Amino acid sequence: MPSRWYDEDIERIIVTEEQIRDKTVELARQVAADYGQVHELLLICVLKGAVMFTADFTRELGRIGPPLELEFMSASSYGQGTTSSGVVRVRADLDRDIAGRHVLVVEDIIDSGLTLSWLLKYLTSQAAASVEVVTLFRKPDAIRSAPPLKYVGFDIAPEFVVGYGLDYGERYRELPFVGVLKPAAYARPDL
Ligand code: XMP
Ligand code: MG
Repeated sequence: MPSRWYDEDIERIIVTEEQIRDKTVELARQVAADYGQVHELLLICVLKGAVMFTADFTRELGRIGPPLELEFMSASSYGQGTTSSGVVRVRADLDRDIAGRHVLVVEDIIDSGLTLSWLLKYLTSQAAASVEVVTLFRKPDAIRSAPPLKYVGFDIAPEFVVGYGLDYGERYRELPFVGVLKPAAYARPDL
């Protein structure tokens, strides 16, 4: 296999491409079973990190679930680097009215749970019929602080991960797996 520019930056793979694929199918099955009676479901992708998972999850759920619509929001507890700051910044509002709609927020990773708590409050205040969350990854802090979540892909250790949408300095989103960077990668001169 030819080497890629990022191979030398990765210390260890946490979740492989195949594990992500299998888990995505499993999560779609759970959601399809729970939403068997609804006429349609609105998926809200939380940009940018959830973009890969949303694209794959939406297609899997589409095969077996109710009709779907897709919206995008951008919300994160900002701060550069590898820790959440505690302040939520919303960079795009919803294009449509969600009153009376069943909403499923699609998240990449939940760490402190702050971004999610804020989002859930916001969506509930817009009078959605229901609001649930599917997240591909969850870190231990979120188990303590975030509201209980029905759909969680992988519980992972509290270390910074990249790939499959997740970035460090806007890099590494295109990796098909999720992994941990070598310490030297944090010191790349172009980041
Ligand atoms: P909170 O703390 O609000 O943060 O739950 C969730 C958001 O923080 C980002 N995040 C990460 N991004 N690797 C990343 O690339 C990580 O390990 C990581 N942990 C948290 C991410 O934007 C997420 O939506
Ligand atoms: Mg980020």
